[in-house]
Amino acid sequence: MDEIIIKGGRSLKGEVIVGGAKNAALPILAASLLVGGRFTFHNVPVLKDIDSIKELLSNMGASVETDGHTVYIDTANLNCFEAPYEQVRKMRASILVLGPLLSRMKKARVSLPGGCAIGARPIDLHLNGLALLGADIRLEHGYVEAACKKMKGAEIYFDVPTVTGTENLMMAAVLAEGTTVLRNAAREPEIIALADTLNLMGADISGIGTAVITINGVTKLSPVTVSIIPDRIEAGTLMVAAALTKGDVRIKNCDPNHLQSIIHKLEKTGAAIEVFEDAVRVKGSHPIHSIDIKTMPYPGFPTDMQAQFMVLLSVANGFSVIAENIFENRFIHVSELCRMGADITISGNHAMIKGVSKLSGAPVMATDLRASASLILAGLVATGTTIVSRVYHLDRGYESLEKKLASLGATIKRVKAQKSS
Ligand code: EPU
Repeated sequence: MDEIIIKGGRSLKGEVIVGGAKNAALPILAASLLVGGRFTFHNVPVLKDIDSIKELLSNMGASVETDGHTVYIDTANLNCFEAPYEQVRKMRASILVLGPLLSRMKKARVSLPGGCAIGARPIDLHLNGLALLGADIRLEHGYVEAACKKMKGAEIYFDVPTVTGTENLMMAAVLAEGTTVLRNAAREPEIIALADTLNLMGADISGIGTAVITINGVTKLSPVTVSIIPDRIEAGTLMVAAALTKGDVRIKNCDPNHLQSIIHKLEKTGAAIEVFEDAVRVKGSHPIHSIDIKTMPYPGFPTDMQAQFMVLLSVANGFSVIAENIFENRFIHVSELCRMGADITISGNHAMIKGVSKLSGAPVMATDLRASASLILAGLVATGTTIVSRVYHLDRGYESLEKKLASLGATIKRVKAQKSS
């Protein structure tokens, strides 16, 4: 198992390129199940989660070829409509095959994902929506068994905006008879990217990027060639790295429109940010000011950036409060940060952070994807050496983060661990 070893204290400088967004690529690759034919996807990040969705599609009979960041998927011959436990256990987003399979094949069998390190993460809103579209949904032996004769348009209201729920329902509704209206839909850029892809395939979706999405069912879709949008969370993580290390970094190939809440909060901590058409330049300055953050659905501050900002606020002047409003258990990085000298107290969904003058390097363990990134960021400013183990969490969602940070001047390397952790 790999470990990442960081010697802290280097100020990051230079330019770095952001890759394609994992959370856009996953539903867009799943959308290839909607119609038989050859799809081409460019700017697909090389990640464990992308390997998982490709494996899932390939097990269903799709032919999947990869050439660097381009993925070709031919879904002409599907022979299996199941996402087994072994695959869903590795990646919850496997649930994204449910909507397209039901839509095209009229049946699907997908393992229930269960909880994960960051929370219970139910899928009731996906299932209720599919039932309203006419699917017969049964939960048996840990699986969702779904079937329908015909999908019919319906009015669907989400109690809370759900990202993969909105995506699943959009994919389920594109070929349904009549009109579907999704209310209180999620508005993340990844949802817009999926809806744009579906429209390119021939779907009729409007209200994209708003909380009310209207889908007029069509009878035919066609395969397409699309490029995956830049990863706003990778961009945000690199922006925090620059601010934290008093660096000066130009983050290229990102969409600054998707980064507004991150830019806003980072500026409040004292960082200077220049915005270009497809890049941002972040100059860190000290002292770092304390700020309060509430995680919210887009366009609010993303939960996927909470752990990274917590590191920044750990070394800020004064007290900060972070309210985590999306996932009930997303503070698992806190105990590891405290082992590095951070002063953070948790009460319910609030983290109270008292800035300290320094963090000190330590062996720490990654517990989920964004937590891993936060520990690496902490290592960049800690005194001495930080060893982050269980980096397979990182590899699920960041492509070569350590190489990108090293190219900016960080002293960081990946090694094979002596013994498994
Ligand atoms: N929720 C329900 N019922 C449902 C679905 C969601 O109660 O049926 C609740 C969740 O428990 C949570 C809230 O709704 O409290 C929002 O969850 P959402 O469904 O939006 O999360 P998700 O679709 O499972 C996606 C991302 C996550 C990201 C969240 C929030 C993908 C593949 N995953 O998850 O990404 O944190 O939206 O923005 O798009 C990550 O990349 O590290 C990651 C965890």
